[in-house]
Amino acid sequence: MQVLDSKQFAAAPTHVAIIMDGNGRWAKARGLPRLAGHQRGAEAVRVAVESCRELEVGYLTLYAFSSENWKRPPSEVDDLMALLRHYLRREISELHGNNVRVRFIGDHVPLAGDIKSLIAEAETKTAANTGLTLTIAINYGSHNEILSACKKVAKGVEDGSLEPDSITEEVFERFLDTADIPPPDLLIRTSGEQRLSNFLLWQLAYSELIFMDTLWPDFTKRNLEEAINEFHGRDRRYGARSG
Ligand code: IPE
Ligand code: IPE
Ligand code: MG
Repeated sequence: MQVLDSKQFAAAPTHVAIIMDGNGRWAKARGLPRLAGHQRGAEAVRVAVESCRELEVGYLTLYAFSSENWKRPPSEVDDLMALLRHYLRREISELHGNNVRVRFIGDHVPLAGDIKSLIAEAETKTAANTGLTLTIAINYGSHNEILSACKKVAKGVEDGSLEPDSITEEVFERFLDTADIPPPDLLIRTSGEQRLSNFLLWQLAYSELIFMDTLWPDFTKRNLEEAINEFHGRDRRYGARSG
């Protein structure tokens, strides 16, 4: 791994996305209920947001709840939703005070009414902020996102507002949840799992992927710095040649 001095952290990647995994295993290793792992996971979100602000990352996108996570026992889904509610109530003012723009991606139709209101409130309140853009993926799944985009495109063709031949990659991307967010430069997944679990499949086409063994509740600024260091050592060729 290439070692860089701290000055070079100023050139942090524009967009870091994280699959925050390992809360259950963190709790299990301590003989605690899974909820304790999720609670500590929420604390690690604070650490990640603060670290991104300090390292001047422009965009941080966090996978908080996948469209497949409904398959978990109802009690765990309830715990995760309660924690989300708690996080939104507690953190939005501070995020706003820190000039963070908060956004959400995913299908929010099945969420509880008060969570939908908190999401709308957070987005409205922080919309004009110019610091870190924090995007939280809730009931997010790429297959669903891409299918929804296809349906919108099909409707555009049907009502005559879109010409099939005018549908370029840029046009299609406008129909994704991430419409005005650049693609991630770096994807981090914690807990040693090496898969994408339906996260940002279109957007990650040329991202650098870093899988680390650290369980999400143990995630620190140092982990982020190490990932960024490794990222800087990668040669991003985009299909071309480096020399
Ligand atoms: C990540 O931790 C949190 C969510 C997926 C919501 P997990 O709950 O998946 O933890 P493990 O993978 O069981 O350790
Ligand atoms: C991915 O983690 C989803 C989130 C981190 C929110 P999972 O723990 O749900 O993924 P799988 O089931 O191991 O693929
Ligand atoms: Mg998991």
